[in-house]
Amino acid sequence: MSLLEIKDAHLKLDNKDILKGVSLSVNKGEVHAIMGPNGSGKSTLSYTLAGREGYDLETGEILLEGNPLNEMSADERARAGLFLAFQYPVELPGVGGMGFLREAVNSRRKFLGEKEFDHLAFVKEARKEASKMFVKDEMLKRAVNVGFSGGEKKRFEILQMAMLKPKVSILDETDSGLDVDALKIVSEGVNAQRNNDNAIVLITHYQRLLDYIVPDFVHILSDGVIIKSGGPELALEVEKNGYAGLIDAA
Ligand SMILES: Nc1ncnc2c1ncn2[C@@H]1O[C@H](COP(=O)(O)OP(=O)(O)OP(=O)(O)O)[C@@H](O)[C@H]1O
Ligand SMILES: [Mg+2]
Repeated sequence: MSLLEIKDAHLKLDNKDILKGVSLSVNKGEVHAIMGPNGSGKSTLSYTLAGREGYDLETGEILLEGNPLNEMSADERARAGLFLAFQYPVELPGVGGMGFLREAVNSRRKFLGEKEFDHLAFVKEARKEASKMFVKDEMLKRAVNVGFSGGEKKRFEILQMAMLKPKVSILDETDSGLDVDALKIVSEGVNAQRNNDNAIVLITHYQRLLDYIVPDFVHILSDGVIIKSGGPELALEVEKNGYAGLIDAA
């Protein structure tokens, strides 16, 4: 059984067809990259997976470990191990970083039947993971994402991933806006999470990210459908020739 199975997903927004039959199987231990022109539906797909309100499939099906996602709220999906790092991370005024992480992690641990972290143990663990992502203690005291720089927001997203240990992580342009050093830090953070029990879906415009996080599969999404799948060489082809040839061929 695939960890994540998307079967012929169709979705409309404002009566407009956005996803027009997306199918994708993601198995444990795999990293998939999704590339595609602006407006092709990549973020829409990520919102659909995460369960954003108003992003219900018209037809088709999405299964997480065999369980239909449409029967689960966004919260339930997160507890079950689905994680989305947003293209544009949301600011949460009044919600401190440390408290936010603790709530999220403990509710996932509760779901898994694991013991919740006590306060001190949690702070220790969070600081350890934060230092790997170069997130300073001071940032954990601030409200989530409020006033964070673009790169700080992206590092905080990967810190959440490291703490939550999701089954399926969808990273929507986590590389955008990162300086060269931050790109390495974030990539190392993601690579450290790779194991035979989870999977990662990377949405990106840049082949460069895939030098650091080497995917097993690359998919090209264009106008709401996957028009081609291949290995890392497909990203190099896109880098060299753009999308036009691939779209014409499809
Ligand atoms: N609420 C909405 N109503 C109508 N159309 C929408 C709505 N939300 C998004 N769209 C359209 O859906 C299409 C896909 O958008 P999406 O954000 O998924 O693209 P993307 O592939 O992530 O692009 P980018 O690479 O620029 O991030 C776009 O044409 C967008 O304008
Ligand atoms: Mg997008």
